[in-house]
Amino acid sequence: MASSLKSLIHDEGRYQRSYQLYLERSTEHQCAKDFIHSTLSGILASVVDGKSHLNVIGVGSGSGEIDLEILSELRLKHPGVTVDYEVVEPNNKQLQNFKALVSQTPGLDHIKFTWTQMTASEFEEQWKVKKMTKKFDFIHMIQMLYYVKDPRAVISFFQSLLDNNGKLLIMQACCKSMDSQDDAWIKFWKTYENTLPLTDMSMTVTCEDIKSFLDSKGVSYQSYELPNQVDITECFTEGNERGELLLDFVTHVLEFSKTASPELKAGVLEHLRHCSVESNSKVMLKNKSGAIVVHPFG
Ligand SMILES: C[S@@+](CC[C@H](N)C(=O)[O-])C[C@H]1O[C@@H](n2cnc3c(N)ncnc32)[C@H](O)[C@@H]1O
Repeated sequence: MASSLKSLIHDEGRYQRSYQLYLERSTEHQCAKDFIHSTLSGILASVVDGKSHLNVIGVGSGSGEIDLEILSELRLKHPGVTVDYEVVEPNNKQLQNFKALVSQTPGLDHIKFTWTQMTASEFEEQWKVKKMTKKFDFIHMIQMLYYVKDPRAVISFFQSLLDNNGKLLIMQACCKSMDSQDDAWIKFWKTYENTLPLTDMSMTVTCEDIKSFLDSKGVSYQSYELPNQVDITECFTEGNERGELLLDFVTHVLEFSKTASPELKAGVLEHLRHCSVESNSKVMLKNKSGAIVVHPFG
């Protein structure tokens, strides 16, 4: 059955629309923004540390809302600092939306954007071919390591680009226990990883896996937990277009409702209901994102 299912990531437009809907139904971005204006603000101050210019990379930035939130915090607290900002994002639709957002946002004249439509691995390959030596003050990889084949290699490469005082921010879902009601995202993926089309992806890689990897390399980091939830009520109304679009993002299957067998669809919906919390006629999936701030090696 799995072979007839197509991965959502190969349809740039539907991926972008389903992710946008997921964000509208989820508190994930709000939690990330709260983190940026509280904890990350102090971390950015330690990165700036008297510098008048920063080199920054956003890897898998999507439409850039979170990137602009980081830039606005930087602007607010460090108004004189100029920024070279490289966006590494393979999805052309997302990249176009990011550019449009930049053009509509006032006060970004001190930032020079470079748009790189590539995957993280393609970027690494090109970096090595060109024998680049530039170092970066801040790099982030927010909710994107699910999409790479080898998250450890990607983390190691981008960490190697950090300047002495630089920081790498990773955000990824947590999963402390398969029995917890708070880690629904990873629980879903651990249950369905062999059924859904996930070639060259790492949907089950957790924040805890990343911390174990960093521990094994002796890398120092700080970590934080950001609880969030997503309202998936519409997924349970047969024929509801928005519910189907949201279910595409939850399963990462293109047109899941139309292409999955009735048994798989029923199983997925039952699993989602079982993992979720119901209140006021809403079906909510609870998650925790981990924010890991990685220091340069050595
Ligand atoms: C879940 S979205 C997160 C977007 C954004 N960081 C945010 O938090 O809203 C994941 C992003 O990673 C991008 N992506 C997918 N595969 C990638 C890869 N191999 N390298 C870099 N980015 C990738 C997707 O196109 C998408 O924009």
